[in-house]
Amino acid sequence: MPTFSSQASSIILFGPPGAGKGTQAVKISQSTGKPQISTGDMLREAVNRGTDLGNEAKGYMESGQLVPDSIIIGLISERLKQPDASDGVLFDGFPRTIAQAEELSRIAKVSTVIMIQVPDEDIVKRIVGRRMDPETGDIFHVKFRPAPEEIVARLIQRKDDNEETVRSRLNAYHQQTKPLSEWYSGLSERSDLRIISVDGRGSIVQVSESIRRELEVS
Ligand code: AP5
Repeated sequence: MPTFSSQASSIILFGPPGAGKGTQAVKISQSTGKPQISTGDMLREAVNRGTDLGNEAKGYMESGQLVPDSIIIGLISERLKQPDASDGVLFDGFPRTIAQAEELSRIAKVSTVIMIQVPDEDIVKRIVGRRMDPETGDIFHVKFRPAPEEIVARLIQRKDDNEETVRSRLNAYHQQTKPLSEWYSGLSERSDLRIISVDGRGSIVQVSESIRRELEVS
């Protein structure tokens, strides 16, 4: 396992749905020791437990829209109070709007934004073929990362991983989330924030290597 240089503050993994944020987050989290905070995973857990928050978020998620900022900011604020977040965290899928980024800048220091670039035509193939292991949370793909034969029977497909919902998620990404890349680029010009831009079209190992190389020189 490659070792990434550790950083004092938090890292954001940014990119369209299906770019490989969750896949790469596991590796970066192991190497930096920073806990992965995925708002998507936290919301899915709330939906599965049937909490009030989960019931409110469910409709947005299933139709591919963003969950309202107030819900997300509340979730993150609570999560950052946990002791394991004190040395910085790895945000996966957060922030997704400028309002979320502004709030984050008030409550945490971000040193690095890793932007994974993948064109829309690749996204649909990645998401429709994704399979999840409900026991471990591991992410597989029927073609690009096949699961071991002995666990294939227990794999599940996320409810929002169908072609129609992917198109809505991509639309939400372009309308509401993509503008954040310019917002962070502007911020990096007037602060010590580092932006790492990675071509996400290679294999999982190639993308991982690119991220490792970039993080090592920081
Ligand atoms: P969330 O769970 O965050 O979904 P997402 O951003 O759409 O991202 P994904 O989990 O779909 O993809 P990923 O980039 O992690 O890719 P992965 O590594 O799995 O959010 C779900 C919903 O929750 C949102 O739609 C919204 O409603 C709500 N939500 C969450 N956060 C929110 C927020 N902050 N504000 C508002 N609403 C929020 O990879 C995808 C597939 O590709 C896998 O099968 C993988 O094996 C494969 N793969 C990965 N890398 C490669 C590669 N290099 N080559 C080939 N295949 C690859």
